[in-house]
Amino acid sequence: MKLSTPEFRAMQSLPRRLGQRFFEMPMFRQMGLDLQNKDVLEIGCGSGYGAHLLNQLQPKSYIGLDVMTEQVELARKKYPQFKFLIQDAEDLSQFENESKDVIIIFGVLHHIPNWRKAIDEITRVLKPNGSLFLEEPRGVDIKVFDAFFRWGHPNTDFGLNALDEYLAKGLKSSTRDGLRC
Ligand SMILES: C[S@@+](CC[C@H](N)C(=O)[O-])C[C@H]1O[C@@H](n2cnc3c(N)ncnc32)[C@H](O)[C@@H]1O
Repeated sequence: MKLSTPEFRAMQSLPRRLGQRFFEMPMFRQMGLDLQNKDVLEIGCGSGYGAHLLNQLQPKSYIGLDVMTEQVELARKKYPQFKFLIQDAEDLSQFENESKDVIIIFGVLHHIPNWRKAIDEITRVLKPNGSLFLEEPRGVDIKVFDAFFRWGHPNTDFGLNALDEYLAKGLKSSTRDGLRC
């Protein structure tokens, strides 16, 4: 789902960049993220800063996708060296089965009404020994941001426990995040 204007602005801010760089990337690294010679797909790439960070780990290929045209236009403008697609994560049909080594998500599933469909698609696209690295906020964090900053997250049944359960059922190989997911 498209971001509200306040959240869209916040996603372009320095604190968001710092969070991605000094918290989420180190957490993924600590969990074993290694992209050398890997085919990488980033879901919900936003305005592309993740591509910049992930590229430092020398993947064989990188594609970032996002459902929001404004985000992808910004990403293409800032980082023309990377490939970005306007695409809903619920439909990854343009990617072949078992074609990606690593799929990365920086805080996106809680925006997707049918987030289980997105996970099904990720499972299909990951290679048998592939890995999913993801970071998502807790329900309480989502409520705080909505109450204080009017970010207006979609009303879905997304939650870390539900996510955990669904991943345990579906993923061939999963790496779960350190925020308690
Ligand atoms: C909280 S922002 C995070 C953006 C970026 N990953 C970051 O960390 O700055 C969530 C992103 O997910 C994207 N998004 C929401 N629903 C989506 C969907 N169904 N498919 C793909 N991207 C989606 C939004 O457009 C937005 O860019």
